[in-house]
Amino acid sequence: MSSTSPPTSDRIDWPTVAYKGMLVSLVVLAFAIPLSLAAIPFIEFFNGMAAQPKAKAQMLYGRVFGESRIAERPPVAGTVPRGYEPYPFADRPATLEAARAVGPLLPNPLPRTLENMRRGRALFNVYCAACHGTEGLGDGPVVGPNRFPAPPSLQTEQVRGYADGTIFHIITKGTQKMPSYAGQIEARERWQIIHYLRALQRAMNPKPEDLKP
Ligand code: HEC
Repeated sequence: MSSTSPPTSDRIDWPTVAYKGMLVSLVVLAFAIPLSLAAIPFIEFFNGMAAQPKAKAQMLYGRVFGESRIAERPPVAGTVPRGYEPYPFADRPATLEAARAVGPLLPNPLPRTLENMRRGRALFNVYCAACHGTEGLGDGPVVGPNRFPAPPSLQTEQVRGYADGTIFHIITKGTQKMPSYAGQIEARERWQIIHYLRALQRAMNPKPEDLKP
């Protein structure tokens, strides 16, 4: 027993210190590396959203009746989808003047039936009411200070006096702050919306003949 060696309890256990130090630095690295990676733009560390299964444009997916499907296949150049009706006044500008000019040339091809008005109501409430309001008064939910500028009321004498074709041109081409809805609403549906808009206008400003049963 040598008198120079300290008592066992005071002795530093170097292997244990090294082991603990390694553990601590591993834990620190385990947090520091992903955090620093996440801070670099364009490197997504937690990319669960991007990596989920989904169809990407032009990708082959699934097999329907033995045939692989292609996602979002663009139409062949120079072709039109089935049922597509070209708009004869597509080259006219997206202005009120143009809309007024084409109005008398474009009669509503659909009869004023309950079915057409009901369908028009559903579409109006989806596509138009956000801005123009469910009654067409120009008070839709997106309108307000620091939000969308107030669109005009569709109950004015001016709009009541428009030909159906004028409103068709406005929905198809848009006008100033109102965007075109040709891509979202088929031609037939636009006419149904107009039938419903007329019903809204008759409800608020009935003519004597509208009140007959
Ligand atoms: C994003 C909001 C928005 C939506 C949705 C919208 N409009 Fe408009 N609409 C406007 C604005 C704004 C104007 C006024 C355009 C301008 O002169 O700047 C307008 C103008 C009009 C006018 C002309 C009014 C006038 O006094 O001359 C008609 C008719 C009309 N919209 C019908 C519709 C119909 C029908 C729909 C649904 C298919 C629709 N709008 C959807 C914003 C909208």
